[in-house]
Amino acid sequence: MKKIGVLTSGGDSPGMNACIRAIVRTANYLNIEVIGFIRGYEGLIDNDYVQLSRQSVSGIIHRGGTILKTARSKRFRTTEGLMKAAQTIQHHHLDGLVIIGGDGSFKGALDLSKYADVKIVGCPGTIDNDLIGTDFTIGYDTAINTVIEAIDKLRDTAESHDRIFVVEVMGKDAGLIALRSALGSGAEAILVPEIKNDVDLLIQKINTWRKDKSSKIIIVAEGDETGGAYKVAEIIKQYKPEHDVRVTVLGHIQRGGNPTCMERVNASIMGYYAVKALLEGKHNVMIGIVDKKVTYTPFERATKHIEELNPELLTILEILSN
Ligand code: F6P
Repeated sequence: MKKIGVLTSGGDSPGMNACIRAIVRTANYLNIEVIGFIRGYEGLIDNDYVQLSRQSVSGIIHRGGTILKTARSKRFRTTEGLMKAAQTIQHHHLDGLVIIGGDGSFKGALDLSKYADVKIVGCPGTIDNDLIGTDFTIGYDTAINTVIEAIDKLRDTAESHDRIFVVEVMGKDAGLIALRSALGSGAEAILVPEIKNDVDLLIQKINTWRKDKSSKIIIVAEGDETGGAYKVAEIIKQYKPEHDVRVTVLGHIQRGGNPTCMERVNASIMGYYAVKALLEGKHNVMIGIVDKKVTYTPFERATKHIEELNPELLTILEILSN
């Protein structure tokens, strides 16, 4: 293995830089040259790249975003785009390619492997944590910490006014950000894509709330069937007009910020193992960490979303939020 490429793809997530740094420095240690493609698969199609060295990844471990920039490439979904990307790989004589991204990016990697003679491995980079094959994706821990920090602040004002706050968090297909940040912030309820008719359950639940409860925080994942926090607030006002309801949509603030320590460490381990996996001849697998052990999940499996939330965590939330 003499030369490898790296790119970040899909939505950015805090910790991607720590992962790039680990890939570059591990490769450097093993005398493998690394180039980084700009804006994910777009850079691969256009041969837009930078040479990466120990120095070029210095001072980035603590920075959110991605120094390589990222994109959701439409062109990469076409045969023409895939063929151009394969030509770039051939042009550089790449022996390996590391993709840092989510399920869509790994699906793209699988398509690419049909056109390009190169070993590809992935590191899970998405704040949503909705990939099978890893306990935590790069970005998730930072995102949930951002959410609980915001909710702590909202709690102050909610308590002062005895208000209900409906807080919308990211997660178009998964409620993992909602569930974990609810446990971490002491929220009263969650609405998530994995649970059907949850707004009806919420209305019933509001009746059971202790009378002396002054603030109430309801976390809604953006992909919930109800259609988001504003819709949920409307429904609450319709059925419970006695409540004063406010809405906060956290949005892309969840995607930024300095990665947490856990994020930096996990991203570094995954980056290191990505290079090691390429050296060992592994191909089309995502590096993950499950029960503190490094795992390799075929891209086909890593692309599947988690279908249901951990029922035990839901029970704990139910008990603790009363
Ligand atoms: O996939 C990560 C994610 O942050 C989702 O939670 C969210 O729905 C989406 O990206 C937002 O994407 P964009 O930045 O393209 O609006």
